[in-house]
Amino acid sequence: MNKVLVFGASGSTGKQVVKTLLDRQIIVTAVVRNSVSFSKHVPDEANLVVLEADITNEPMSFYSNCIDENDAIVSCLGHNMTLAGVFGSPRLLVHDVMQNIVNTIKDTKPKALKKLILMSSAAVTNAHISEVPPLSERLVVSVLRTFVPPHLDNEKAAELLHCQATKNRSIEWVIVRPDALFDEKYESPFDVCDSPSRNSIFNSGKTSRINVANFMSKLVTDEALWHKWKGKMPVIYNKI
Ligand SMILES: NC(=O)c1ccc[n+]([C@@H]2O[C@H](COP(=O)([O-])OP(=O)(O)OC[C@H]3O[C@@H](n4cnc5c(N)ncnc54)[C@H](OP(=O)(O)O)[C@@H]3O)[C@@H](O)[C@H]2O)c1
Repeated sequence: MNKVLVFGASGSTGKQVVKTLLDRQIIVTAVVRNSVSFSKHVPDEANLVVLEADITNEPMSFYSNCIDENDAIVSCLGHNMTLAGVFGSPRLLVHDVMQNIVNTIKDTKPKALKKLILMSSAAVTNAHISEVPPLSERLVVSVLRTFVPPHLDNEKAAELLHCQATKNRSIEWVIVRPDALFDEKYESPFDVCDSPSRNSIFNSGKTSRINVANFMSKLVTDEALWHKWKGKMPVIYNKI
C-alpha cells in the first residue's frame, strides 16, 4: 500500500492527512480546488502530486484515472462553514463524491483491492450495530437532518458505504468518526471505540485533527489496524 488519493486535501484535517502520509513515505495525490493556496500550506515534495479539479463537475474518466493509480482513497471532504457552503449546492457533496468513487470501482473492476477511508462524525449513528444515542441527541439530530444539509450528507455517505461498498469485493472501507474537532500541533494520546461513549450534542468529546490524520494514515499503512476496523465506524476521542 504505497499510493493514496486524498479528497478534501486542502481542508484543516485533509492537510494534516497529506503531511502524515508523506511522513510515512506514501506517494500522495492531493485533490484540491486551488493548488496555489494549497501549496502555501503543504510544501512541494517528490512524493506529492497536486491535482486541481472541480470534483463535483469532473467526468467519470477523471475518477477512473485517479482511482486506478491509487491503492487507497481518503475523503476529508466537508461543507465550508459559510451560508453558501452549508445551504448551497452541492448539498450532498460527500455522498456524491463517494458515489462516484464506488461507481468507478464497480465499473472498472480493479484487480487489486481499494481501501476507502471516509471522515464522518460522531453524530452519525451506526444503525448496523444497533447504536441507540440518548433521546436528547436523537431529537436534535432529527432536526439537524431536516434543516442542516451537511449532517444528512454525512449520514448518506456512511449509508452508501454500508450498503453499496460492502457488496463490492474490490472495496474495503472504514468510516472514521471524530467528535468536536480542534487543532493541536502534535499527536497526543487518543481512544478509538466502536461506538460513541458520549452525547455528541450535549456532552461532546474532543478530537484533534492531527490525531484523526494520524489514525487515518495508520489505517493505510498498518494491516493489523486495518483488519481490526474494516467495515466499521470507529469513534475517536482525545484522552483528557
Ligand atoms: N467541525 C467539527 O467539529 C466536526 C466534528 C466531527 C466531524 N466533522 C466532519 O469532518 C469533516 C472535515 O472537517 P474539517 O474541519 O477538516 O473540514 P474543512 O477544513 O472545512 O475542509 C473541508 C474540505 O472540503 C472541501 N470542499 C468543501 N466544499 C467543496 C466543494 N463544493 N467542492 C470540492 N471540495 C469542497 C474544502 O475545499 P476548499 O479548501 O477548497 O474549501 C476542504 O478541502 C467534515 O465532513 C465534517 O462534517 C466536523
